Amino acid sequence: MLENPLRDPRDRRLPRIAGPCGMVLFGVTGDLSRKKVMPAIYDLANRGLLPPGFSLVGFARRDWADQDFAQVVHDSVKQYARTEFREEVWEQLSEGFRFVPGDFDSDDSFDHLRRVIEELDEIRGTGGNHAFYLAIPPAAFGKVVSQLQRHALTESSPDRWRRVVVEKPFGHDLRSAQELNGILHSVFPDGSIFRIDHYLGKETVQNIMAMRFANAMFEPVWNANYVDHVQITMAEDVGIGGRAGYYDGIGAARDVIQNHLLQLMALVAMEEPVSFDASALRVEKQKLLSSIRLPEDLAVTTARGQYAAGWAGGEKVVGFLDEDGIARDSTTETYAAVTLHVDNRRWAGVPFYLRTGKRLGRRVTEVAVVFKRAPHLPFTQSATAELTQNALVIRIQPDEGLTMRFGSKVPGTQMEIRDVNMDFAYGGSFTESSPEAYERLILDVLLGDPPLFPRHEEVELSWQILDPVLDFWAAQDTKGVGPEAYASGYWGPSSADAMLERDGRVWRRP
Ligand code: BG6
Repeated sequence: MLENPLRDPRDRRLPRIAGPCGMVLFGVTGDLSRKKVMPAIYDLANRGLLPPGFSLVGFARRDWADQDFAQVVHDSVKQYARTEFREEVWEQLSEGFRFVPGDFDSDDSFDHLRRVIEELDEIRGTGGNHAFYLAIPPAAFGKVVSQLQRHALTESSPDRWRRVVVEKPFGHDLRSAQELNGILHSVFPDGSIFRIDHYLGKETVQNIMAMRFANAMFEPVWNANYVDHVQITMAEDVGIGGRAGYYDGIGAARDVIQNHLLQLMALVAMEEPVSFDASALRVEKQKLLSSIRLPEDLAVTTARGQYAAGWAGGEKVVGFLDEDGIARDSTTETYAAVTLHVDNRRWAGVPFYLRTGKRLGRRVTEVAVVFKRAPHLPFTQSATAELTQNALVIRIQPDEGLTMRFGSKVPGTQMEIRDVNMDFAYGGSFTESSPEAYERLILDVLLGDPPLFPRHEEVELSWQILDPVLDFWAAQDTKGVGPEAYASGYWGPSSADAMLERDGRVWRRP
């Protein structure tokens, strides 16, 4: 068939269906695989976006047969998939499931894996194209990628691709991130490494770019002439759940600010990319991240806290130090807030306040761009007593949309001006529901489409920004000054409020 010369193959309006391929999943028993990866694979299959012969190979130290693995995927899909369960989709998908029982140290297991992949290429037509998804602790990355290499599983060639997918944490500081990147790069070329930051897969996060660069009305005011400050909030009402082993020693700043929040900030503050090619987008994010500066006095421009007992969803909950698996003297923060400056002409003098925490008042992620007051108000003081600053709030989740806050006259015979909100809600404008971030990102891995995956430079720059804060907090710990307690169900420690009050500002209460 002749190609239509008017059709750009990258046209996103065409359904983007992955070509022949498969995936090997390491860490099949973990939460990430069960709650996110497996359901997303099913949802993609259900939406017709996977090739008919797609294969999924699980690898773990379990004495399982293929059927046992299929049962695990089945249970996870039933519990967590976004789309409806359809027997015919499941039947076709599960025919491509295989399980390789094995140890990361065992040569036999990786030989077995190679044979399974070759057989799938033969009978399912996967064409030699396979992604290795490392849903395992980073300490095991080195072992697994070198085993894959030793067993001739990593080489791409013009007629087949091999890719590796890794999840955060990408290290715990700059040095460890560089080591990790070194390990991955010693085996896979840059273009074959896909680092997942699931925030970039969220519809509303991608919409930041659409909103800024597809419209005429936002960019003219998107700068220090009009913007007073920006608040980026990721609040959760849950505690650490069963993740004590991962979370203790990591804390809120490493878990969320280093990746999700700095990526959000990069998208909000970067310049317009030349195009939405991966390299053009990454250049702009990288440039922005390299112009971020921490203020001098970290004692008053950062804040950290630890949740104490309190309430969540109408139920009594224990404090962090009483959670199972947490050391009683842990100084791990469950709340972190930082002030950041951007040293460029667009943002000079505009602070960006980033905060995240567990067991806060409610689950909400938003970016609030708060504008300066109008330079002159030709009204009496009492007429504007209830007028605050204009704000544009990008609601990332759960109530996806955008709110514009501005002043309006209150109906009546007097001139009285009060804040009103103008809302755009996804549910009101679109009938399609948003796909899960993992659906989009896994599809992009299989398509080899990299714009939504941070490069190692971005990861390292983010650690460079955060390392001094983490060092400062560690030094405070040695002086016996740990994170401040806050009651579960409230909005974090008082030091975080003081951090903004010093600047004459207040946190939003979403
Ligand atoms: C993860 C963090 O990256 O994001 C978790 O490790 C956090 O601690 C989660 O709970 C939140 O993701 P989401 O998509 O629910 O905002």
